[in-house]
Amino acid sequence: MDAQVLTLVQEITDQLLRQSLSLRYDICTCPECKDSMLKLAINGLLGLNLPLADTTPEKVKETYARDINRLVIHAIDRVSDRPPHPVHEDKKKEFKRLMQRIYAERGLDLRNYHTELLKRRIALRLQKNDVPSYAEYIKFLGRKPQEYDKLFETLCINVSEFLRDPPVWVTIQYLFENLIRIKQQTGDPRIHVWSAGCACGEEPYSIALMLKEALRSVQASLSVQITATDIDKACLLAAKKAVYAKDSVKNIDTKLLARYFELTEGKFAVKEELKRMVNVDYVDLTSGNFPKDTDLIVCRNVFIYFNRDLQRQLLVKFHSSLKVGGYLIMGKSESLWIEPGFFENIDSNARIFRKLSTHER
Ligand SMILES: C[S@@+](CC[C@H](N)C(=O)[O-])C[C@H]1O[C@@H](n2cnc3c(N)ncnc32)[C@H](O)[C@@H]1O
Repeated sequence: MDAQVLTLVQEITDQLLRQSLSLRYDICTCPECKDSMLKLAINGLLGLNLPLADTTPEKVKETYARDINRLVIHAIDRVSDRPPHPVHEDKKKEFKRLMQRIYAERGLDLRNYHTELLKRRIALRLQKNDVPSYAEYIKFLGRKPQEYDKLFETLCINVSEFLRDPPVWVTIQYLFENLIRIKQQTGDPRIHVWSAGCACGEEPYSIALMLKEALRSVQASLSVQITATDIDKACLLAAKKAVYAKDSVKNIDTKLLARYFELTEGKFAVKEELKRMVNVDYVDLTSGNFPKDTDLIVCRNVFIYFNRDLQRQLLVKFHSSLKVGGYLIMGKSESLWIEPGFFENIDSNARIFRKLSTHER
């Protein structure tokens, strides 16, 4: 291989390796390990048919980035499984100890969360606080308990917005109109909706707004109760306050914005008539008591955190929380990991499911 090209490829590999290791607190990244990883990746590259001397760095990157990336990932896995030195710290054990500490101190049971997602998010806190390992982070949490709040904020990724995925809300509007008609036919005066994992309230107030509009369009009056729950206490406070930045409400059309929000100092405050419909409460989906007799559960973009076992347990509990014929709405990219017979698929695009009763199975 041409020496100039080899140097180039080595530089690119080194750069990629450093990037890939920048948030890896779950493995040893000492200079000795890094060096072994680099050597292993370069050895893999020698087996590739690399280009001639006149190739530019851009061309090498463009042509070989994918191969180099693959070899770097492989080298990281290999070396971290069998480090070239005695193991100083058992990262798996320390990670487990950190999970146990969080549970003991704050009652948050992360055992059934996706481990890779947790590691990525926790790495951000380690980096931010300049803490080199899980063991040190456990000590740091002991010294600075206020770090728990920051950690939970990072873990919970509570991004949301009003009418998130707008086309889905068009379908939800039909569903609401349908629900109202059923209520009128059966003489049931009340609708109970649960927004599970409600972040800062954008979802439950979207539900309130759409339900109000649906009630207007079919000229019905029903008592509406929306239970909004989350595990993030800062979010729950914000949900009770119900004041939002312009970006959060960008999916709401101007007529509805004027009808249901007050503009104060550049922020959008939800009007009392919607606020009255929503009860904000703390519920940990991994262990808490669930609301009963719900007509609809909206649990969007929350299941992504949980492994399949927990997802299945949750779906069984959601099934019990719903009234017969009640609906469940999940996030756009989420799947229903449960055996047939619990729910039927109503709309695959909007991820809407209907509870099946025992005799419908
Ligand atoms: C990405 S947000 C989704 C917000 C909203 N449902 C939406 O789709 O826009 C996920 C929410 O799930 C909450 N969450 C995570 N784990 C939870 C748990 N064990 N119990 C309750 N809520 C949880 C987070 O705090 C966060 O507010």
